[in-house]
Amino acid sequence: MASIVSETVPKFTAEALKSAAKQSERCHIVPIRLRRAIKKYLREQEEPHMKRKVLRLSESFSQIKEVNLMLPTSTSKELFEDPLKSVDCSQRWKIKSAYGDVGLKYRDDETLAYVASRMPAVYSALYRVLSEVRRRLPGFSPAKVLDFGAGTGSAFWAVREVWPRSLSRINLVEPSQSMQRAGQSLIKGLKSLPLIQSYGSIQALSQDVKKSDRQHDLVIASYVLGEIPSLKDRITVVRQLWEQTGDVLVLVEPGTPQGSNIISQMRSHILWMEKRRSRKLEGVSGKDSKALTTLKNGCPHDGRCPLDNTGKYCHFVQRLQRTSSQRAYKRSKGEPLRGFEDEKFCFIAFRRGERPREPWPLDNMKFETLKEQHARRNPEDLEIDYEDQFISEDEDIEDEVDHVTYDSDATETDAVTENDDWEEEGEERTHADLGGGWGRIIYSPLRRGKRIEMDVCRSINQEGSEGSFERIVITKSKNPTLHHQARRSLWGDLWPF
Ligand SMILES: C[S@@+](CC[C@H](N)C(=O)[O-])C[C@H]1O[C@@H](n2cnc3c(N)ncnc32)[C@H](O)[C@@H]1O
Repeated sequence: MASIVSETVPKFTAEALKSAAKQSERCHIVPIRLRRAIKKYLREQEEPHMKRKVLRLSESFSQIKEVNLMLPTSTSKELFEDPLKSVDCSQRWKIKSAYGDVGLKYRDDETLAYVASRMPAVYSALYRVLSEVRRRLPGFSPAKVLDFGAGTGSAFWAVREVWPRSLSRINLVEPSQSMQRAGQSLIKGLKSLPLIQSYGSIQALSQDVKKSDRQHDLVIASYVLGEIPSLKDRITVVRQLWEQTGDVLVLVEPGTPQGSNIISQMRSHILWMEKRRSRKLEGVSGKDSKALTTLKNGCPHDGRCPLDNTGKYCHFVQRLQRTSSQRAYKRSKGEPLRGFEDEKFCFIAFRRGERPREPWPLDNMKFETLKEQHARRNPEDLEIDYEDQFISEDEDIEDEVDHVTYDSDATETDAVTENDDWEEEGEERTHADLGGGWGRIIYSPLRRGKRIEMDVCRSINQEGSEGSFERIVITKSKNPTLHHQARRSLWGDLWPF
């Protein structure tokens, strides 16, 4: 009897679906405490020629892009096999090319330019990614975190904003002394800091910390893998990071074809490693391999990325209100700078554990067509609807105007005394699990009259083992409920199946 009930009761209401699917944020405002910290830090440096420094930093990022272009441009077959098999086993866990051989070295000038121009944008992308992790894993609250390539601490700030009271220890791996110093300077004055330990390399961390203590609830590597100048070293690093991941691993890269390629390669490699591990365990225990799958993947499925070799690349965008330092030091090509900028990023998040095999969100949901909805209306409702016809299609959309007014000038005061009320956002009531029933909207949905077209990456089977990238069309006449949801959906939101 119970099973009959659970089969027929839908998992979601239309409203719950909408709030679970929402992952995007229109325009992020960097929190006042971070803006103040950046402003104070920059003032203390009293550095001249900041615009030139910011320009030079941006040129060096372009050089990194060029180096990355020389690496294979698509996920090669070897990544599904063991890319390190040609390497002597004893060397597997050693990174041969030391940081800095080819990559970018952050000295004081670059660090300063990074804090002024890049940190607010990278922070905003990270805040967005970690907020999705929090929404989709409501019980997850990381106490011990590892930030690889920590730089000036964007991830630390984002973790504190997303899970205000969870952090008790953070291990930072950062080879640049200058970046380390800046990171320390930025957090001066913050209250209730966790235990913070900095290391110059992942090997130094491994030497210092006992193997049993190396597991972290959350491991983050943001905007760093592209600076490691060889594919093999990247894979080695990601394997080490995965080893140290007790629960969730998050990789974030710039939203460029190169960044997306790196994320896709690392995703393929981790999936390959886990599949191999499952097969081995299966061999040992004789158990069914499915039961041993130990991965939940932030992508809608665990199959090959359907965008590989299509000329398109998977990335997202987070708009942020420019901070005063960004407005002050960015090139404007003669025109006044816009009040916001769009940070494009790619990401992948993995969680240890089985991908849930729950009913899909739309299972057992019944939707009315527009005709059926109209037929059900009372005469009084019809009168109201008659008036509604004079409201144009777009008028019922919530205020979608971009927030471009700045409040940072008024509020970034010199005072660094921190009001430590890190407010927690109201708990979301519904969440999208990591099962295969949630697709991801890639690129901006297109509105064409009463139909909406969306490019969606989705799982094509219940296990989430394979995926596809397809354009889906939602029309108001066939499904006014989903049409309503589609009109409010943005790039990066989820789409239920
Ligand atoms: C673009 S910054 C990103 C900093 C920070 N993760 C963020 O999101 O703001 C890249 C950082 O990675 C560091 N890095 C580069 N190569 C590294 C390596 N092999 N191991 C550890 N960190 C590295 C650099 O020193 C720099 O601080």
